[in-house]
This record gives sequence, C-alpha cells and structure tokens, in this order.
Amino acid sequence: MMIKSIKAQEVLDSRGNPTVETEITLTSGAKGRAIVPSGASTGEREAAELRDGDKTRFFGKGVLKAVANVNSDIADALCGKKINDQRELDTIMINLDGTPNKSKLGANAILSVSLAYAKACANKKEEALFQHLAQQDKYVLPVPCMNVINGGVHADNNIDFQEFMIAPHNAPNFETAIRMGIETFHSLKKVLQAKGYNTAVGDEGGFAPNLKSNEEAIEVILEAITAAGYVPGKDISICLDPASSEMWKENKYHFFKSDGSYKSSEEMVAIWEDWINKYPIVLLEDGMAENDWKGWQILTEKLGDKVELVGDDIFCTNAKILQEGIDKKVANSILIKLNQIGTLSETIDTMKLAKDNGYNCFVSHRSGETEDTTIADFTVALGAGHLKTGSGCRSERISKFNQLLRIERILGDKAEFAGIKTFKNQYVC
Ligand code: PGA
Ligand code: ZN
Repeated sequence: MMIKSIKAQEVLDSRGNPTVETEITLTSGAKGRAIVPSGASTGEREAAELRDGDKTRFFGKGVLKAVANVNSDIADALCGKKINDQRELDTIMINLDGTPNKSKLGANAILSVSLAYAKACANKKEEALFQHLAQQDKYVLPVPCMNVINGGVHADNNIDFQEFMIAPHNAPNFETAIRMGIETFHSLKKVLQAKGYNTAVGDEGGFAPNLKSNEEAIEVILEAITAAGYVPGKDISICLDPASSEMWKENKYHFFKSDGSYKSSEEMVAIWEDWINKYPIVLLEDGMAENDWKGWQILTEKLGDKVELVGDDIFCTNAKILQEGIDKKVANSILIKLNQIGTLSETIDTMKLAKDNGYNCFVSHRSGETEDTTIADFTVALGAGHLKTGSGCRSERISKFNQLLRIERILGDKAEFAGIKTFKNQYVC
C-alpha cells in the first residue's frame, strides 16, 4: 500500500492543550486520521512528547515542531514508497528518529502517523479498525472501568489518590455493563449531593469533591452501587489508580492533599492490604511509585495472588522495562497507553511479552484526551478484556464507550463480554 500524502496539523485536546492530528491518504484514495492524547501524571521513562516551548503560544505547549516533523521529515521518508505493513512503517519512523525515547521527532508526531496509517489501511480493506487490527478470531468486549471519583493531580480537591473506578462486570454484554456503570455514576451524584458535597467533575469526568478522607471515596461509591440496585463485589467491583509516583517524595509517600502525613513503602502496602480485605477491589494500578521497585516487590509478594496489580508509570508500555519487571517479580499486569511508547507495533510487542509471561494488559486513555476513539477498537482487537477510558460524562470519554457499543452491534453473536474473569486473581470479599 503506497502512501500518497501525509498532512499534520495542530488541534486541541480535552484540557484545551495543543496536540497533533495527522491525516494519511493512500494512493487508492483511502484515508485515515488520528489525534494523539496527552498525560498529566506521566511516567519518567515515557517516550518524549515534543512541545515547542515557545512561551508566546499556548504558554509553551504548542506542537508546531511535531507537526512540522510529520509534514517534512516523516512525510519525505514515507510518501511514494512501497510500504508492506504497519511494522515496516513504524520501523522506518523509529530509525528516522534514532533516539531511544523518540525525542528528535516526538512520540506525538510518530504516533499520529502510526495510527492514521492503521486507519487508512482498514479503510482501504473496507474493514472496521478492530477487524483490521485483530490478533485473534474471537472478539472480546471489555469491562469498562469507569473513573467516577477523581483526585490527585487530576482534580483540585483534597483526595490524594487519583482514580476511583467502578467495574461493572456481572453483565451479559457490554451494553448492559455500560448501563450499570452509568446508572451508578448518576446515583453517585445523588449520594454526594445528599451529603452536601460538590458534584463538579475532574479531568476524566469523575466527581471531584472534598471528602473527609481518601477512604470515604470508596464508601460513597459503594453506597452509589447499592442505590443503583446492584450488589458491590457481585455485580460491580472497584479498581484503583492512586498514581502513587505523584506522592513519592524523599523515599516516602506524602499524603500532601489530605492530612500531610508521610508513609513508608511498608505502610503503603499495609494500607492496600487493609483496603483489599475490607472492600471489593479487583484491581490496583500504581499502588507503589515508579522509583520504588523494592516497594513494588513487597506489594506483589503480599497481594499479587489476590488482585490485579497493574504497572503504569513503572513500565511505560515499554517491553524492555516490562522484562525487568517480570525478572524482578513486580506486578502481574501492565497498563497500555499507546503514546507512552509511540508506535502501534511496539505497543503490540509489549502486550505479547506481557501475555507470554502471564501478565494482564489493561488498556488506557490519557487524562488529556480527544474525540479519537482508536483505543476502543484496539482493546477489542487485542482481546485485552478491560479498559479505562473515563467516567459517565465528557464526550472525549463517552466517545470510546459509544464506539464499543457500535462494535458490539456490528459483531452481534460473535461478541463475547469479558466479565469478572478478565481480572487477574480477582478477590471479592
Ligand atoms: P495521565 O493519567 O494520563 O494523566 O498520565 C492516567 C493514569 O495515570 O493512568
Ligand atoms: Zn495510572
């Protein structure tokens, strides 16, 4: 498939920050367009997002350099050449960049081309993206893990932990699961209102009230699940992403948004153990900080046979780092964010390595998102079984759920809903 043209432009993400959009046209006339997302609580070893640093535009956050890199260097290397497949395209860009973290051309530039190409190829074959990317014959619709309370760096409130998610798993299909999640989201609003709490939302669409403690976030969610007519643990369980790298200061965890206390790694593990014993938690992401490998080992040793322990900041969707984690017995699952590594092919390589070593893959949006719905198709294509892509409001989040509803309708009887078995070592108290 020959590429006729590649055109990038600067557009905006859900936080009103600039990001890269690229459109590719193949010589057949088929087109594909993709927009890249952007994180706030980023891992230190993520591929580099290229920003202009020109303070006269968007306070330095412009992406005109990344856009120019697509329109010049990348377009020159790819247009009019015979390219056999996605891997060949991605490899050309990786070599053209030549740095270990894509800092020359920018991972935002490279990923926009990688994804736009996949979509153009799907369109050429007149297939949906999930069919074009499919790695197996069986299609699994994911459990939507919905981030209904936001804290940490995603909200201006007093909650230290970043994400409190609900996982509606006891459902015959995705359509029912998402309805259960949305009903619980609406119930949560009423529960918060009844307690006199604020119901404004954070970056990912979850409520962002000031609460009496971090733990109260779980308590109000359990109340909302029950008020919506569901049974916590049986129908809907809880997933957490405290994003604890953001709390890691001088080898301790600093609860700077709530009571200002400091906790050691052992004390942090004790908190998770207590919560997992008390509450129906099936997944804990970044329970420990990216630079606390020792703490991660203790956590995995203590709780790895009870719940899914997902590494986000620590692994950065990077196969080399994941291998280190496998060797050191850290976590039992990996968060998958395409822009942490920067190409589709490398992301799939990381997921294969995870699978081969018994690790789960949990697909994720970024806190700065767009209307691009690639991760919905990607999750089904790769059979990841669960994803997190926001709460019950904000269209940059809901657009992924709507795409999953479309995919389920296209598949009809061929679609299977992942359910509780998707969570590794789920522990329902
Ligand atoms: P980010 O947050 O997109 O701001 O990095 C998501 C996460 O930590 O999982
Ligand atoms: Zn995370």
